Amino acid sequence: MYVSKNLDVNSDGHLTIGGMDTVKLAEEYGTPLYVVDEELVREHCRSFRSSIDNYYGGKGLACYASKAFSCKAMYRIMKEEGMGIDVVSGGELYTALKADFPMEKVCFHGNNKTNDELKLALESKVGRIIVDNISELERLDRLAGEMGITADIMFRIKPGIDAHTHDFVKTGQIDSKFGFALETGEAMEAVKAAVKCENVKLTGLHCHIGSQIFDIDPFVCAAEVMLKLISSIKKELGLEIKELNLGGGFGIKYTEKDNPTPYDSYMKTVSEKVKQVCAEENISLPFIYIEPGRSVIAPAGITLYTVGAVKNIPDIRTYVSVDGGMCDNPRYALYKSEYEIVAANRAAEPRTEIITVAGKCCESGDLIGEGMAIQPVGPGDIMAVLATGAYNYSMSSNYNRIPKPAVVMVRNGESRVVVKRETLDDIIRNDLD
Ligand code: LLP
Repeated sequence: MYVSKNLDVNSDGHLTIGGMDTVKLAEEYGTPLYVVDEELVREHCRSFRSSIDNYYGGKGLACYASKAFSCKAMYRIMKEEGMGIDVVSGGELYTALKADFPMEKVCFHGNNKTNDELKLALESKVGRIIVDNISELERLDRLAGEMGITADIMFRIKPGIDAHTHDFVKTGQIDSKFGFALETGEAMEAVKAAVKCENVKLTGLHCHIGSQIFDIDPFVCAAEVMLKLISSIKKELGLEIKELNLGGGFGIKYTEKDNPTPYDSYMKTVSEKVKQVCAEENISLPFIYIEPGRSVIAPAGITLYTVGAVKNIPDIRTYVSVDGGMCDNPRYALYKSEYEIVAANRAAEPRTEIITVAGKCCESGDLIGEGMAIQPVGPGDIMAVLATGAYNYSMSSNYNRIPKPAVVMVRNGESRVVVKRETLDDIIRNDLD
């Protein structure tokens, strides 16, 4: 009935998430409110893990890309579900450390890591540092040397695949700020440089071809390109690369128009290709990492708002303003991302109105969406925006000095706050008199 399967309508005609009444959650915790169905998050983790077990003999690790939604509770859940994580800043790494996440299961990314971030990663003994460029390689080699340790690294490679075109294209992605280019020989030169470094060990290669991708073909193509590079490295340098990180990017259903591929078929198809290419190229099967972010958390989350002003501009549109906006969900302003909405306290009624959802920021572009179908709503109604678990809280801001909403997790008929609502005092906490 809705884009996410954890949502339903109860006998009061209220929207439920993971069996919990969203109107009651809004009453108890206030709005705007992010609500996450913990059980669904765990289910997603298990399906990624079991797909690796079923199709690749368990020779891999699913690392949750925590840029999608990062907080201590989330890292604890990932730990309990046996996942690895991808972190991309000192802040994400520090949060994971404070949540006692096992550091050997951490992949540390970033195209411009600072020395402080690299030192924190080395001190914390993160599993893999994904090196993006030559200057990072040199700095890391020096820092690891100073600390008397060897850092296990992977190289981020641009495999030359643009997955965001209607028919994905296989060249022309040299123009990216991330990683070493393949076509120019830059990647092979970097591998040669790594071999000469005394304090780093190149264990693997990484690629990430984009986000919200529905098609399996670009993933399969990326895997093939990467394995061929592993094969050339073996032939040219006699170096065996034992790990392949294929990144994330698996699409999810935001609206009825979206038709994502089940993870199982992704892993099945990619595994078959990996086995085939390894046999052809006479290289051993690599340990595989995948880095799903959005697909782990987006469908499990919703945002609840209280409706305020409604402005009907005849023959033009109806603006329905809510008590949040681009400060808690900048994705429409940034990408024109589409969402499904529901009047949580009128969820049993038909969605007969077409509205523009506006936020409360002082900015005309502060919209959550346009042309959205919803039940008739007025001031005081609760509006739910669906599938907001990924890249909403993590990309939120304090624009207009609006405090960030709380995040509540629900599971087994209970709810708990995992991130507190910011107060006005939080807003001024770093201001000096
Ligand atoms: N691995 C790497 C190296 C990445 O850069 C990303 C996402 C992922 C994994 C996870 O990708 P996912 O499975 O979540 O698609 N802010 C944008 C999305 C940016 C994604 C950046 N990298 C949005 O709101 O749509």
